[in-house]
Amino acid sequence: MRALPLSALVLSAALLVAARPVRYAPLPEPIPGDLAGADGEVVVRNCTACHSLEYVATQPRGKGAQFWRDSVTKMITVYKAPIEPAEAEAVSAALAAKFG
Ligand code: HEC
Repeated sequence: MRALPLSALVLSAALLVAARPVRYAPLPEPIPGDLAGADGEVVVRNCTACHSLEYVATQPRGKGAQFWRDSVTKMITVYKAPIEPAEAEAVSAALAAKFG
């Protein structure tokens, strides 16, 4: 008759351990080499909330400043990226300077 309380105790202890929340930490996102410097900081700060920076760094080169301005505008208007106008201008300029 002593086995029952003991097994109940073991079971409750096991449930307590199993019920502990599991915490996940995302792996640190690698910053593509092109954007790793100080002049890429404004891009890293504004463009990593929703997707990898690979989206940005793997775009074709030489599309011109308007392409980058349009890309940033699309992120803001279509996908609702919370980016202030001055930051958006700085991101566009940094991307145009880096990727043409
Ligand atoms: C609010 C979320 C969000 C933020 C912040 C964001 N993006 Fe995006 N971005 C998206 C979504 C959604 C897509 C489309 C994903 C897909 O089609 O798989 C995307 C796609 C892209 C693409 C791929 C081409 C395209 O137009 O679909 C580029 C380039 C890009 N983003 C650049 C940027 C840049 C530069 C920034 C920083 C100014 C940025 N994103 C910030 C949501 C965001």
